Amino acid sequence: MRGGLALLSTVSSPHAPPSPPLCFRRLRLHSVFSSDILRVKSRKSVWTIRTRAVATMASDPENIGNARKQLVKLFETSLRTTVPEESDVEPLVAACTAKFGDYQCNNAMSLWPKIKGKKTEFRGPPAVGQALMKNLPSSEMVEACSVAGPGFVNVTLSKNWIAKNIQKMLIDGIETWAPGLSIKRVVVDFSSPNIAKEMHVGHLRSTIIGDTLARMLEFSNVEVLRRNHVGDWGTQFGMLIEFLFEKFPDWESAGETAIGDLQAFYKASKQKFDEDPVFKERAQKAVVRLQGGELRYRSAWAQICDISRREFDGVYQRLGVSLEEKGESFYNPYIPSVLEKLSGLGLVEESEGARVIFLEGYERPLIVVKKDGGYNYASTDLTALWYRLNIEKAEWIIYVTDVGQSEHFQMFFKAAKRAGWLPDDDKAYPRTSHVGFGLVLGEDGKRFRTRSTEVVRLADLLDEAKARSKAVLVERGKDKEWSEEDLDKIAEAVGYGAVKYADLKNNRTTNYTFNFDQMLNDKGNTAVYLLYAHARICSIIRKSGKDIEELKKTGSVALNHQDERALGLHLLQFAETVEEACTNLLPNVLCEYLYNLSENFTKFYSNCQVVGSADETSRLLLCEATAVVMRKCFHLLGIVPVHKL
Ligand code: ARG
Repeated sequence: MRGGLALLSTVSSPHAPPSPPLCFRRLRLHSVFSSDILRVKSRKSVWTIRTRAVATMASDPENIGNARKQLVKLFETSLRTTVPEESDVEPLVAACTAKFGDYQCNNAMSLWPKIKGKKTEFRGPPAVGQALMKNLPSSEMVEACSVAGPGFVNVTLSKNWIAKNIQKMLIDGIETWAPGLSIKRVVVDFSSPNIAKEMHVGHLRSTIIGDTLARMLEFSNVEVLRRNHVGDWGTQFGMLIEFLFEKFPDWESAGETAIGDLQAFYKASKQKFDEDPVFKERAQKAVVRLQGGELRYRSAWAQICDISRREFDGVYQRLGVSLEEKGESFYNPYIPSVLEKLSGLGLVEESEGARVIFLEGYERPLIVVKKDGGYNYASTDLTALWYRLNIEKAEWIIYVTDVGQSEHFQMFFKAAKRAGWLPDDDKAYPRTSHVGFGLVLGEDGKRFRTRSTEVVRLADLLDEAKARSKAVLVERGKDKEWSEEDLDKIAEAVGYGAVKYADLKNNRTTNYTFNFDQMLNDKGNTAVYLLYAHARICSIIRKSGKDIEELKKTGSVALNHQDERALGLHLLQFAETVEEACTNLLPNVLCEYLYNLSENFTKFYSNCQVVGSADETSRLLLCEATAVVMRKCFHLLGIVPVHKL
């Protein structure tokens, strides 16, 4: 556990005074029974202390926007009263879709086997459920409770409480609904293309998914180090540099313009490398000279990296993604000392001329120094992990690559655990996670390629997305209605948004089929449909002629119609959805929420008249709250919302 008692924050105990004593030094540490919960005993009381709630303090101390967490607190109290001897049981509270209520507490069933046979007044799980319900402290958030089936406690939230929360969010801002996470600093290692090789659709997926995860964590007030771990160091540079010297003797002055297309350059040099043994030998020697720091080789390398970087940056700019490059070469000087530390721990062994780490459960070891003495992907990743933990002090390091690299990550994570860098418990911090994703497929069900069977260039792909969405707008006569600049901006927002959303809405581990027609369809679960829905809400508000800022101050929200209530509840579930999406590293959870929000809105709008009705003010405020939450979702998904379409 990092930070220890410095992280003490929230306290709960049935016997505890309302707040913990300020001076913890006078307390005796009673026991530690989970990585994030401490029991502390003073002469009079026992406190159960969550040690991981420190970030909660920063963003959302009371979890105002998080109904589930507030219910968890209520059930925590109820559990302590109902089964005081089971003090380590965590409340299991989840939103439910059943008609019985909005949330459900499921502790009764799992508690029963623990207390059965012991001295207990209960006769079975339903009785435990009844007691949990009876002992629930009264709260303005709860309208009704019931016990169903084997002991589920169903909770219906008060519609006035939901309404009040929405109104508060409208006044204080959506940031008050940011999830409170328990960590301070995270590295998201994403995009990470390889210099001089093509930046393919796999890197596009990594860029889109990684950016969304970073955005969600940033929204949750976590500091995110957005790392581009570019492949800028490796044997391919020997070949590239030799080819550069040979083809362009004046490379220093004309190199960049002469090289032009770096991918074609890579291909040509690879061909020569494969066909010409003399060249091959020179290329291999060039690697040694480069790694030895010879000036001419270094500057040729830097120039090649620069050309690639410019191309990558173009894509990032168009996608609105920011990244800080710390490529493989950055960690190179640290590798020897990190390997020394690992050797000192007895982890590194000699095997068939290479230096390796044997890991339980894997037949082949993790190679950290190759036979020829060179370092590899694994030695760089181990070193980068050491750097991120010790120098950058990150608590969670998230790697976004295709699932094909899973084994590599699992192996070096395991090595780091053996070295004692990471705890054995996968959920405890400091922590590493590999966010794997599936392939992008073409219509033929095979890996996505262009007609010439070349890999698809990202810049071309984005050009096409924009051109297609622009064509649709022109077809709808928007070129006559809007300025050229607006038309361009909106075509980009829709086109790039469509590409991003089509990727993010799928569970990332599955393969998905790239299809422009589908993603640019204005019906169904697409960015286009959602952007339209948002623009329509903006236009309802605009056309009402009312000053929404004024309404926020003077009006109030009421949720009397069932469709108003359903929309209100869904709005309120935004915070817990973002929390789930970023703690489980699943952007599709947020997409699903956004799509359902728009469905809920449509239902509300078709059954509840807004403008001109007796409830106009409240309903306009609901429209505004929906638009605000939708915009935040778009923002978190890296999609630029448009106010007209
Ligand atoms: N450059 C690698 C590739 O294109 C991805 C790097 C991912 N990050 C890492 N730390 N290994 O496959």
